Amino acid sequence: MDPIKHLEDLERRAELGGGDDRLRRQHEAGKLTARERIDMLFDPGTFQEIDKLVTHRCRDFGMGDADQLIPGDGVIAGHGRIDGRPVYAFAQDFTVFGGSLSETNAAKIVKIMDLAIKMGAPVVGLNDSGGARIQEGVLSLGGYADIFLRNTLASGVVPQISAIMGPCAGGAVYSPAITDFNIMVEGTSYMFVTGPDVIRTVTHEEVTKDELGGAMTHNATSGVAHFAVPDDRECLLLIRELLGYLPGNNIDDPPRRDTADAIDREDEALDQLVPDSASQPYDMLDLVHAVADEGAFLEVHRHYAKNIIVGFARVAGRPVGVVANQPAHLAGTLDIDASVKGARFVRFCDAFNIPLVTFEDVPGFLPGTRQEYGGIIRHGAKLLFAYAEATVPKVTVITRKAYGGAYCVMSSKHIRTDVNFAWPSAEIAVMGPEGAVNILYKRELEKADDPHAARAARVAEFREKFANPYVAAERGFIDEVIRPRQTRAKLAAALATLETKRDKNPPKKHGNIPL
Ligand code: HXC
Repeated sequence: MDPIKHLEDLERRAELGGGDDRLRRQHEAGKLTARERIDMLFDPGTFQEIDKLVTHRCRDFGMGDADQLIPGDGVIAGHGRIDGRPVYAFAQDFTVFGGSLSETNAAKIVKIMDLAIKMGAPVVGLNDSGGARIQEGVLSLGGYADIFLRNTLASGVVPQISAIMGPCAGGAVYSPAITDFNIMVEGTSYMFVTGPDVIRTVTHEEVTKDELGGAMTHNATSGVAHFAVPDDRECLLLIRELLGYLPGNNIDDPPRRDTADAIDREDEALDQLVPDSASQPYDMLDLVHAVADEGAFLEVHRHYAKNIIVGFARVAGRPVGVVANQPAHLAGTLDIDASVKGARFVRFCDAFNIPLVTFEDVPGFLPGTRQEYGGIIRHGAKLLFAYAEATVPKVTVITRKAYGGAYCVMSSKHIRTDVNFAWPSAEIAVMGPEGAVNILYKRELEKADDPHAARAARVAEFREKFANPYVAAERGFIDEVIRPRQTRAKLAAALATLETKRDKNPPKKHGNIPL
């Protein structure tokens, strides 16, 4: 046979995956095929496929028959460009043995992960798989473990993004779990360690696949996923957008982008953002959008622990990681979920040289037995640990409350934050005026003829003396009290100065974050 025609035949077989019928079923299920996903993910014409002709080695269960040896073996692997920058990716092909993971299929994934680590480029995994290739048994399990090891070694070296675009169950979930971001497609994706049938047998609970491990379950309830998207196309566009904020690796700087948005743009509305009453909520996202270039903010973990906001923006073209208390939800208190959400994001940014901008309005940690029994001490310490060990440029703006331990945790000067701003409305104190007066003047108030009036007078006195930014500013814990409308200009100037920041932690194998 003509050797070139032979090659073309093999390639065509690889491109056909599980065949026309299964490709049609994939579309009927509302999913793109693995090849369509790869095409949409990368800049046109840039994808270079690796191991297109790999076949599995299993000969049991009739797997050695010619029609069972499908070139590529159920996963497409390779590299290409996204916005002109190199990225490695694999896409599991559900039309070939349900995208299940065989020994050779795992070896393809491992190969591109090793290359990505060596080249310093992000890895994107498009997951759509029935799990371990049942015919291969322990060889498949070994393949998973090989991938988990690479995920772990790559963590903090190159960004890793997982898209869940179909089934992802059993031990297979632990690869996405180790990666930096999980994106789930609503309606077609699910993740669980044990499925509804096993749960029914063991705990007698009735639960559907979607309730158990669908996109919104993991976005809003478990926090396993960081993004929910309506379909495959949105998923792939989101990966491209997310990568736009990230460096290729832990040595590179994040990519800067020109902006037409004036660096010194003032926003008068910010002067009125904080309400007169200290107990009245407002939307911290208004501030985030007001300071970001073109108002653009890519919120991460939007549906989970809404009392803290995390995500990416640019200020004067530089990507920044934003962490902000959200007074519009649980009064912006820090609870277990918010602490863990914030800590993971801070550590990601620190690993990848992304400066941290913190907007603070926090009345403290959320009280209650659920929080204490759940280990708020340990979980809250994660956020503290993450901020304290972070050596990237750190800038904080206190808009209103910075009370108690939460003041220390939220990127205070004392844990190596470089620039600390406060608005005139800031209240930096051990606790709020009401709480402080209750403790300090308990006996005096018990004896007072008019306890109500006496209390109000003491609260007013405390507020006047301590519920402001000036005590902290006198000590240098706050570098500058700024006008709210000028926040963008102040941030841009601080971040520009901090570009040359060099800071290190003491040499060690690794710290022991309170997990
Ligand atoms: C081999 C598999 C497979 C698997 C699916 N297929 N899963 N082949 N190994 N794990 C094949 C099917 O035989 C079928 O082949 C095709 O893929 C599509 O599967 P369907 O069942 O027709 O599709 P659907 O109805 O959409 O159901 C999808 C599914 C189901 C829910 C994923 O296939 C399923 O339950 N699969 C088994 C899941 C499982 O138990 N995996 C092992 C888990 S243990 P044909 O030829 O008919 O098209 C595990 C451990 C990992 O993963 C440990 C890591 C440490």
